[in-house]
Amino acid sequence: MAKDPVRVLVTGAAGQIGYALVPMIARGVMLGPDQPVILHMLDIPPAAEALNGVKMELVDAAFPLLKGVVATTDVVEACTNVNIAVMVGGFPRKEGMERKDVMSKNVSIYKSQASALEKHAAANCKVLVVANPANTNALILKEFAPSIPEKNITCLTRLDHNRALGQISERVGVQVSEVKNVIIWGNHSSTQYPDVSHATVISEGAEKAVKSLVSDDEWLKGEFIKIVQQRGAAIIKARKLSSALSAASSACDHIRDWVLGTPEGTWVSMGVYSDGSYNVPAGLIYSFPVTCRNGEWTIVQATYMIKSRVSLPGLEIDEFSRKKMDATAEELTEEKALAYSCLS
Ligand code: NAD
Ligand code: LMR
Repeated sequence: MAKDPVRVLVTGAAGQIGYALVPMIARGVMLGPDQPVILHMLDIPPAAEALNGVKMELVDAAFPLLKGVVATTDVVEACTNVNIAVMVGGFPRKEGMERKDVMSKNVSIYKSQASALEKHAAANCKVLVVANPANTNALILKEFAPSIPEKNITCLTRLDHNRALGQISERVGVQVSEVKNVIIWGNHSSTQYPDVSHATVISEGAEKAVKSLVSDDEWLKGEFIKIVQQRGAAIIKARKLSSALSAASSACDHIRDWVLGTPEGTWVSMGVYSDGSYNVPAGLIYSFPVTCRNGEWTIVQATYMIKSRVSLPGLEIDEFSRKKMDATAEELTEEKALAYSCLS
């Protein structure tokens, strides 16, 4: 029997990520090849004509899974009954700008859209914030939509995770599909900590630690981290526009794994509400390694540890990692304060 359609909201749908993302969703890349979808696309009035053009192209592409398109500049209409909300709308970072510079422009948007989602989205709607500063926008959305369970509000660090997989694959000389369990800790910003301490590669038929294959520890602790941290800026420099196809693809990966589950033995990175695991301050949206089952994410080991009171350790964290995890947490704490000052 055919499944009922899932309603997926994309805000900022007339923008460049939106333009890459909506055809992926309509093709089943996000929710699977047997899941019909109805797309809700929101943008602001100056972009209404362009948004209508995207709608025309979706009709012209004749996607078999696409059962309807709502293209609107009305936030209530856009949010009504949506099951998944991908929040891309906002002001993007331009060359030379730090994420903090776009803060004031974006947090007020997330405050007002929080209320619309809270009032009009389907119960149990899953929210993914892509627009920067992604972690802090997600936190503002969470705080101004108190009836949406905190487990349902996440931000995108899967792009950073995928970037780390890509770098390791190139360095070791294996397919990217053979690399797994990198971790992005913290903020989707240049303080994020891409960590390969637990990452593995399938090489010559066996699973091996990345650290055993990349003997150059200096590269792993230096250039590798920097490349991943600065990749967004490098794309902006090269394209004069921020990343779009990789952001759209990673957003699909994030939702797909959240809804359909992560493969056995594999974790992914998601920005989620911190419960204090790994001594990360509670009350931040921080990127952790998570596994997903039955539509729910769980921070690797640490949540189990807290709930069961069993003294199972989380992943081992050495001193080098600890410092980097704390530095990115500090930045998020500062961003949180700055966001509130922009709103007052
Ligand atoms: P873009 O400027 O091409 O598109 C943004 C769209 O949002 C525009 O069409 C704009 O009209 C719309 N918009 C502005 N205010 C809005 C509002 N209040 N409601 C609805 N729509 C609104 O930008 P883009 O390149 O598509 O990037 C979108 C965001 O994603 C930026 O903030 C960018 O920095 C961020 N980003 C995040 C990641 C990540 O990994 N988390 C990666 C790439 C880009
Ligand atoms: C990215 O990581 O590509 C985006 O967040 C764009 C940026 O501002 O770095």
